Amino acid sequence: MPPASPHTTLQVPVSGALGPLTAEEARFFEKLDLLRLPRHLAVIMDGNGRWAQQRHLPRVAGHRAGTKSARVTIETCARLKIEALTLYAFSVENWRRPKTETDFLMQLLREYLRKEMPLLQKNDIRIRFLGRTDELPQGVQDDVRDATERTSRNRGMVLCIALNYGGRAEIVDAMNAILAEQNGRGHRERISEETLAHHLYTEGLPDPDLLIRTSGEMRISNFLLWQIAYAEIFVTETLWPDFNRARLLEALVEYQKRERRYGGIRGDEPDAHKPARVVGE
Ligand code: FPP
Repeated sequence: MPPASPHTTLQVPVSGALGPLTAEEARFFEKLDLLRLPRHLAVIMDGNGRWAQQRHLPRVAGHRAGTKSARVTIETCARLKIEALTLYAFSVENWRRPKTETDFLMQLLREYLRKEMPLLQKNDIRIRFLGRTDELPQGVQDDVRDATERTSRNRGMVLCIALNYGGRAEIVDAMNAILAEQNGRGHRERISEETLAHHLYTEGLPDPDLLIRTSGEMRISNFLLWQIAYAEIFVTETLWPDFNRARLLEALVEYQKRERRYGGIRGDEPDAHKPARVVGE
């Protein structure tokens, strides 16, 4: 079982939090129970390449279009007072792509961090990076450190960007960190689930309640392997650049229809894992 989250800064969004809604968005928003939103939402942003191919554009045009969907998702989640949003931006396996594409993605991320800093500050968002960031090109590492530092005093949603991330790599890194600690102390002890979770990149965050994957693929793709043990999975055919606020609200409505049992029986959910939201904090 994952450990109970230490997070206590839970808030409830007001009904007008999203501002003016389109008719389609309003239809989903009316169905949403704002007291039962996921605490942590994780997203596999897939389908940028296909979106571009369909338009006879280079693949990288799909990635650029995908930044708009990222912006909408980030701002909407922050306004809904979701505690944590994790976006899968670049996996350890993505280095297998042509160098022109990986160079473009690194450049796009740097550009994005610069351009979106006002949005992050305005919405009180704290950014965090999950992955082997020390292996990234130096310029990217500098920007990652800078964005983390500049938003470190914010107290709203935690935005995690999974960058040079691999779920297996994360577990291996956690195990090696535990071994190093044990060597330093001069003795070995049994490793518990709590100890392992404490050494993951997501330390201190609740596990994702909902995992969204766009573009229809039914795969986990080495994403948050430990943390999604009890996550609800929502796969949509929508390609990431077409993923808009209506699609996000639709996924949240669908999530609220699911019965979460955590291996128990109906009505048996352990309190520690329920998305709990407290009014007025
Ligand atoms: C998968 O689509 C997408 C990626 C590997 C990159 C995701 C990056 C972005 C959306 C842009 C920047 C994001 C942030 C957070 C600033 P794919 O290329 O595998 O698509 P395909 O399966 O159709 O080829």
